[in-house]
Amino acid sequence: MSKVLLVLNHPNYKDSFANKIVVEKLKSLIPDIEIDHIDTLYPEGKIDVKAEQEKLLKADTVIFQFPVYWFKSPYFLSKWIEDVFTHGFAYGSNGYKLEGKKLIISITLGGEEEEFKGNMALDRLISPFEATAIYTKMKFAGFTYTLDIPFTIKDTPDLAKTKKELLEKQAEKIVSMIKN
Ligand SMILES: Cc1cc2nc3c(=O)[nH]c(=O)nc-3n(C[C@H](O)[C@H](O)[C@H](O)COP(=O)(O)O)c2cc1C
Repeated sequence: MSKVLLVLNHPNYKDSFANKIVVEKLKSLIPDIEIDHIDTLYPEGKIDVKAEQEKLLKADTVIFQFPVYWFKSPYFLSKWIEDVFTHGFAYGSNGYKLEGKKLIISITLGGEEEEFKGNMALDRLISPFEATAIYTKMKFAGFTYTLDIPFTIKDTPDLAKTKKELLEKQAEKIVSMIKN
């Protein structure tokens, strides 16, 4: 499979239920996947822009993986994009170094299906990422998600089992998005 970089933004990964399952399943499906957990890599918030750009240059597919916080990614992915997608690298004259690379968005949410209708539709939430892909000439390959992950999930074994299966399917869907 082509080279895959997963940019993971989860400020509290040690307590994660959902994102951890997606990431672990992806690691089993794509053994050479590069996991770029930006929160643990840059705990002081100072991003090594050159190192991040090198990782992107090596990748054919980039995945942004995160739990939805207040209808967007946790803040550090926004900062990462602002710092790393620079003029002359991601866009502008002598830029567009990411041209043709696939971008996939993989998210988890606490909310239930019926919350995400009309103005609240998930594709609206994803649209800034799609716009970023279009602007930088990346190929937006779509998004995948699992809803309805309650904070109490670890206390409800039956629900946890059902959600685990769905989250593993989310990882499988990512693999098919990479291949298509
Ligand atoms: C600060 C914060 C904000 C959140 N905002 C949303 C939200 O806007 N919509 C939603 O559906 N879930 C929201 N959630 C729930 C998380 O998306 C959910 O707990 C997470 O996706 C579960 O993944 P994890 O087990 O890997 O942490 C929020 C959670 C936190 C902690």
